[in-house]
Amino acid sequence: MIYLDNAATTFPKPDAVISAVTDFLTKCGASPGRGSYDSALHSSEILFRCQENIATLFSIPSPERIVFTKNATEAINAAIFGTVLPGDEIIISSMEHNSVMRSSHEATVRGAKLKIAHASPTGKVDPSSIERLISNKTKLICLIHSSNVSGTINDIHSVLSIAKKHNILTLFDLSQSAGIIPIDASLFDMAAFSGHKGLMGTMGTGCLYVREGISIKPLLYGGTGSYSESARMPDFFPDLFHAGTLNAPGIAALNEGVKFILREGVYEKEAEITRYLYDSLMNIPSVTVPGERERTSAVSITAKGFDPIFIAHELNREGICVRAGLHCAPLAHRTLGTIEKGTLRFSPGFFTEKADIDIALMSFKKIIEK
Ligand SMILES: Cc1ncc(COP(=O)(O)O)c(C=O)c1O
Repeated sequence: MIYLDNAATTFPKPDAVISAVTDFLTKCGASPGRGSYDSALHSSEILFRCQENIATLFSIPSPERIVFTKNATEAINAAIFGTVLPGDEIIISSMEHNSVMRSSHEATVRGAKLKIAHASPTGKVDPSSIERLISNKTKLICLIHSSNVSGTINDIHSVLSIAKKHNILTLFDLSQSAGIIPIDASLFDMAAFSGHKGLMGTMGTGCLYVREGISIKPLLYGGTGSYSESARMPDFFPDLFHAGTLNAPGIAALNEGVKFILREGVYEKEAEITRYLYDSLMNIPSVTVPGERERTSAVSITAKGFDPIFIAHELNREGICVRAGLHCAPLAHRTLGTIEKGTLRFSPGFFTEKADIDIALMSFKKIIEK
């Protein structure tokens, strides 16, 4: 099998990630933040270590403000519904994933107003186009760091400066950039990311980072193992967001994934394999690759006269895993001009070799030549 769907979730995982799950389930097994016996304390310790390692990776000043969710979608929902009130305005871009698009649409059902900044045909959002949409009602700017369709990387730091100038909150969706390109989140207000993509953890993990000083309501209410006598949620992080038993085996795995990235410095290898894929695709006549060469590892294409779903199906028969269609981002396809049939997406990861790309593209060429 040649796996080229790392933008959906990374595979394979580092050995340490796999052992973390089995070690947790065979040697620890206790719920974090609940008991005071040794294995329960060890379980809590894993959680703290994971927060610390993520904080190190992203230069986040306060690890306790990183909360665990079940995926990036939950983190995005928590950020939007925790800060936006009826009457507030949200600005998003035309490159957003449905996790942002649908939750901000739901916010409009609850009385907020949505404004959309249109990106260029390569998927880049001009920060000034966001600034032009700001009004005195704008509460939140929510922007994708890097597109899951075209890999286009947005200048989130310029957007952050604009937002700070106008005293507006920002939420960056780092789902396609966390663990793929270096990120300095030290000045971010809020950031959401998956644990199972570039950070190499397992499915069922994601995170929301909320800067100190931001007032936010939790998405879930329930037991935290702390201040149990009170009917209210604890007002401190991370407990405010940790209602219910957490996915401790998943967090143990995520911790190892993040340590792997810190140890191996994966960025250059991923960038190189992505450039190799991009250049190889650009050399195939009849193939169009929307976006820019400098990108994260989502490389979507269209091939003249071909349905991406047909090609993905044919590639699957040869053991090559790629994704076709709209990739949960219809607005992005409208922006890139690929809404009609969507795209065929190749997304390599840290473990992808050039030989994998060569084999996949040989099969691809055979299909379109036939
Ligand atoms: C840009 C982007 N945002 C959000 C998500 C949602 O991530 P999750 O599946 O972890 O909720 C994805 C998943 O593909 C994504 O690519």
